[in-house]
Amino acid sequence: MNKLYDSVIATFKGKPGALLSVLEEVQRKTEHTYLNEQALLYIAEHMEVPLSQVYSVVTFYSFFNLKPQGDHTITVCRGTACHTQGSKPLLNDVMAMLNLNESESGEDETSFTTSDMRFTVRTVACFGQCALAPVIAVDEVIYSRMTSDKLATLLKQLMAKKVNS
Ligand code: FES
Repeated sequence: MNKLYDSVIATFKGKPGALLSVLEEVQRKTEHTYLNEQALLYIAEHMEVPLSQVYSVVTFYSFFNLKPQGDHTITVCRGTACHTQGSKPLLNDVMAMLNLNESESGEDETSFTTSDMRFTVRTVACFGQCALAPVIAVDEVIYSRMTSDKLATLLKQLMAKKVNS
């Protein structure tokens, strides 16, 4: 029995799109905003759906996280328009400022989290705002025509913030 999972399941079970809603809500209410294996197993069993179906949902939608996430998420677009406008150097800047190393992290190549759990850096295929390339998102906020200088200022402001603010 798990209080959080039970209350979320009770809220949505039987409603249209229940599985997606339950997964979203459990992720939102879980520390470090992710779905662990225990949660997926519990949800599958109590929603009475095959575990394979739960996995196909969480792997299909990019907003589901299967690993703990940092307090702030920086998403760098790596689509063609952003690439030609310099998104790779911007990604390198973010990684360097946060002391993250793609080759040492051992994580998949699209998500890196600092060891203090303050920042997660991810890439995305396209934000759908190619005319404004290069595009970066910090948490829910989109920044267009990003430059190294603007990015450095943004990151410094975030790094200066108190934990969990
Ligand atoms: S390629 Fe970056 S917004 Fe489309």
